[in-house]
Amino acid sequence: MTGTPRPYLLFLLLAAQPRGSSPATSGCASSAIRVNGILGELVVLPFDFKGTFKLITWYRPSPRQDTASGRKVPLAVITPGEPGALPRVAVEDERYRGRVRLHGQSYSLEISNLTLADRGEYKLEQNTIGHNVHFCDYHLTLYQRLSQLEIKIHPVMAENSTCNVTFTCSAGEGAWNLTYTWTGPAGGAVLSTKESLLVQHRLGDEDTPVTCTATNNVSTSSANASPKAACEGPTLPQTPALSYCRTKGLLVLGMLGSLLAGIVTAHVLAAREQTRPGEERSFPCAC
Ligand SMILES: *[C@@H]1O[C@H](CO)[C@@H](O)[C@H](O)[C@H]1NC(C)=O
Ligand SMILES: *[C@@H]1O[C@H](CO)[C@@H](O)[C@H](O)[C@H]1NC(C)=O
Ligand SMILES: *[C@@H]1O[C@H](CO)[C@@H](O)[C@H](O)[C@H]1NC(C)=O
Repeated sequence: MTGTPRPYLLFLLLAAQPRGSSPATSGCASSAIRVNGILGELVVLPFDFKGTFKLITWYRPSPRQDTASGRKVPLAVITPGEPGALPRVAVEDERYRGRVRLHGQSYSLEISNLTLADRGEYKLEQNTIGHNVHFCDYHLTLYQRLSQLEIKIHPVMAENSTCNVTFTCSAGEGAWNLTYTWTGPAGGAVLSTKESLLVQHRLGDEDTPVTCTATNNVSTSSANASPKAACEGPTLPQTPALSYCRTKGLLVLGMLGSLLAGIVTAHVLAAREQTRPGEERSFPCAC
């Protein structure tokens, strides 16, 4: 019965190999851990670790190189505190001063007041007591929390008293990586997943309001638009026919005005002592 326990012993031997006898490196995930942050808010780069260590070094995206030593300037260096005390956090990168700390009771890094310059690849390097090195890579993507959407309206009159109105959904400057969904009335069918939507509205027909919903990975916002209001409402821009009428009216008014001025001048020249006041008249557009 001596043969049976051998594999078991071998396993025990392997498991009991003294750690750190040969330096080893390991990563915490097969690829970078993806983290989403919101501009101006805070984000946590997770590092789930309990135990003893010598040093934890965090690097920011494309770390600055120290000109004298040539070494990459870390974002922060964490060292264990005295027994019973909290770990020490030394923030070496001035860009992060006052903005980083350990999250709760963990070794996860919390970065607050996020700015666009904070996005990119972060790296954690942990040196254990046994001279092993443990790496973690993070990819931080930043998003803007969406505020109120604006819908721009562009109506064009088409044939047969139909109005082609183009609605364009806008989340303002600085919004990127957005997906748009246009839906019909009362959570109806998806009409489009583009930024703009063309709706044909017959003048006098019932309204069919549409809703634009813009989404990024961290927030969502929506707004409604009414084709009837866009086509028949008071804000409808002048149709070409109407503006032509206006132009014509102004032209006639101008011509009459100069005619009147000419008559008055002639009268003044003819009889300086007898001036007649010119009558003031308006010429409404008769179209
Ligand atoms: C972070 O933002 C808050 C609120 O906007 C501000 O009061 C605080 O001073 C900022 N802190 C840093 C370090 O920029
Ligand atoms: C209105 O929209 C229809 C359908 O897309 C199109 O065929 C037509 O040419 C448009 N008319 C105008 C004046 O834009
Ligand atoms: C306009 O309406 C009439 C009658 O309904 C139709 O015969 C004609 O084809 C329409 N024209 C266009 C351009 O849609």
